[in-house]
Amino acid sequence: MKNFKRYLVTSALPYANGPVHIGHLAGVYIPSDIYVRYLRLKGRKVIWVCGSDENGVPITIKARQEGVTPQNIVDKYHNIIKNSFAQLGISFDIYSRTTSPVHYKTSSDFFRTLYDKNIFEEQVTLQYYDEEAKQFLADRYITGTCPHCQNDRAYGDQCEKCGTTLSPNDLRDPKSAITGSIPIKKETKHWYLPLNNYERFLREWILEGHKEWKANVYGQCKSWLDLGLQPRAVSRDLDWGIPIPVEGAEGKVLYVWFDAPIGYISASKELTGDWEKYWKSEDTKLVHFIGKDNIVFHCIVFPAMLKAHGEYILPENVPANEFLNLEGDKISTSRNWAVWLHEYLEDMPGKEDVLRYVLCANAPETKDNDFTWKDFQARNNNELVAILGNFINRAIVLTDKYYGGEVPACGTLTSYDEEILQEIPRIKKSVEDNIENYRFREALREAMNLARLGNKYLADTEPWKLVKTDPERVKTILNIAIQISANLGIVCEPFMPFTAKKILRLLNSDKFGWEELGKTYLISAGHKVNKPELLFEKIEDSTIEAQLLKLENTKKSNMANEASIDPQKSSVTFDDFSKMDIRISKVLEAEKVPKTKKLLKLTVDTGIDKRVIVSGIAEFYSPEEMVGRQVLVLVNLEPRTIKGIESQGMILMAQTSEGKMVTVKPAEDIITGAYIG
Ligand code: MF3
Ligand code: ZN
Repeated sequence: MKNFKRYLVTSALPYANGPVHIGHLAGVYIPSDIYVRYLRLKGRKVIWVCGSDENGVPITIKARQEGVTPQNIVDKYHNIIKNSFAQLGISFDIYSRTTSPVHYKTSSDFFRTLYDKNIFEEQVTLQYYDEEAKQFLADRYITGTCPHCQNDRAYGDQCEKCGTTLSPNDLRDPKSAITGSIPIKKETKHWYLPLNNYERFLREWILEGHKEWKANVYGQCKSWLDLGLQPRAVSRDLDWGIPIPVEGAEGKVLYVWFDAPIGYISASKELTGDWEKYWKSEDTKLVHFIGKDNIVFHCIVFPAMLKAHGEYILPENVPANEFLNLEGDKISTSRNWAVWLHEYLEDMPGKEDVLRYVLCANAPETKDNDFTWKDFQARNNNELVAILGNFINRAIVLTDKYYGGEVPACGTLTSYDEEILQEIPRIKKSVEDNIENYRFREALREAMNLARLGNKYLADTEPWKLVKTDPERVKTILNIAIQISANLGIVCEPFMPFTAKKILRLLNSDKFGWEELGKTYLISAGHKVNKPELLFEKIEDSTIEAQLLKLENTKKSNMANEASIDPQKSSVTFDDFSKMDIRISKVLEAEKVPKTKKLLKLTVDTGIDKRVIVSGIAEFYSPEEMVGRQVLVLVNLEPRTIKGIESQGMILMAQTSEGKMVTVKPAEDIITGAYIG
C-alpha cells in the first residue's frame, strides 16, 4: 500500500437550482463527512472541498421558471444549501461556489492551457436555433414528441415519461421551450476534448490499475471504455457561465461539466496557500465522493482533462454510491418528490444525528435503496433509543445514583470482563477497515456493536442486584461501563458528531483522538460525570404520519399537474365557438350496445327532443348508473352511425388523472334543456 502524506477529499458540487435532499446526503455528503471526520480524528492531514455548482443550463431553466435572473437563483440556493449543510454538521473545510472570481480565473486558465497545448478539436455543427429569442437552444430547451412513447412533452436530452435518453434530432415536431416557435438549424463552432485520445491511458489506469474500485464504479467505467470514447464538446452557446477565453468565441461559455470539477481546484486555492501541494504531489491521496450519475465525469472526463493539463494528480478512488429512493419512488427535484434537508431541519429540530444515522445505516452503497419514514422511526426507536441511548443512560444514571456521579475505581477483572474489554480494539479495527474501504454502513454497524456490547455487559452482570451484596464488584462493573461510554464518545464522532459531543459532555470529558479508542482507562477513578440526560427520544406515530401526509399531498398535486397539462389546442374564433349548441340533458334509458365493451346506447331528453346517443363510457358507468343522470350534450354534432345505431350528439366528459372518464354536472340545480355557452 502506498504511503500518502495528505488527503484531498472532494464531494460533488450540488447544483444551485434547488435545495439538497436526502438522496444527495446518503449518496455523497454523509459518507464523505464520515470519512473526513475519521481522518481528522486520526490526525491525518486532510482538506475537504465542496461548493455550489452554479453554471450551466439547469440554473437558467430554473431562473426562467421562476421569472428571475440566474444570479438570483444561485444566490438563493447557495445560501439554503450552505446553511443546511452546516446545520447537519457536514464539516467541509470550505464550501465555495463556481461563480467565485477565483473559479472564473482557474477554469478559464485551465481551458486556455489545453487550448494552447492544441488539445482541443474545433468542430462546426448544425444546432437548433430560436430566431425569435435569437439564441441557440440547449437540449433541455427543445421540446417535442418522443419517438418511443409519443409523449409530446419530451425534452431534447430525455423523455421523462419513458426515461429514454434522446438527442434533439430524435424529437418529432421540435419546438423552442423559450418562445414556442419552431427552431431552425444553424451552424455553430465548438471545442471538443478528444476523449478517444485518452482511451488507452484510461483503460490502463482504471481497468488495470484500479481493480479495487467499487464494483459499480469499475463496471460503469468498463462499459464506457468498451463502447469506445468520442470527442466531447466542452463549450456551449449560452449567456450564463464562464466565457470561453479565446477570440471568436463570443456568446460561448464553458460547458458546465468542464468547469464544475475544476471547482474542486478553485475551492482548494481559496482555502489554502498550500493548494498546490495537495493537487500536484504524488503523495496526496485524492478521493472523489459522488453519486452514480457522476461516474463518467469523474472517472473518465475529468481525469482526461487533468492528464491533458499535465500538472495534476489523478484520483486514487471514486467511491460512488447508487441512488436512494423515497417511499418506493425515484427522488425528483422537479416533481418535488424528496425530503428536503432544510425542511427536515425545521420539522425535526435536534434530530440531526437521527437523519445522519438512518441515511448511513441505509446508504445505497452497492445497490439502490429505499428511504421510508416507517424505517426512520423504527431505526430511531429500536436502535438509537433502545441501544445507544439506553446504554449511555444506564451507565450515567447508575454512576449518579450509587456514587453521586463520581466514577468508581476498577477492581480485579473477571475473565468475563476481559472478554468484554477485548472486544473494543476488535471493533476499532473493524470500524477503521470499513471506513478506509468506504463501507460506511458496516462501519456504523460495528460502532453500534460497541453499544450493544455495553448493554449486554450490564444485562449479564446486573449491577443493580449486586449493589447491596457485592459493592466492590459493582464499582468495577460501572467503571467498565463508563470506559465503554467514553469509547462510544470517540467511535460515534464521525457518524453522529452531535451525539458524540453529548456523550462526552455527560462524561464531563474533553474530546479524544482516534488512537484513544480501544483503551479502557480513558476516564479515571474519582472523575465526576454530569447529571443524566437522554441522548435520543422516541419518535411518535403522529410525527411520522405528518411527514407521510406531506408526501401524499405532493403526490396529489403532481397528479393534478400531470392531468391538466394537455397543451392548449390551436385557437378558434368566437364564431367557431358559438356554433356549438350544448344543452343540459337527462338520461332516460341506457343499455349496453351488444358485442361491444365500451359502448352504451343512451336515450336522452335534451329539452328540445328525445334522442339516441351512442357513447364510449361503458367501462366507466353501468347502464343503471346512467339512468336519471344529468349530462352535458353537444346536440348539433352531425349524426353518426355507430354499430348500426344512429347517434345524434355527444355526451361531454372529463378525464381524471387516472384516465377515467366522468360526466360533468352543473354547480346548481338546473332545468333540462338549459343552454351552455
Ligand atoms: N452538479 C452536479 C450534479 O449535481 C455535480 C457536479 S460535481 C463536479 O450532478 F465535479 F462537477 F463538481
Ligand atoms: Zn418517451
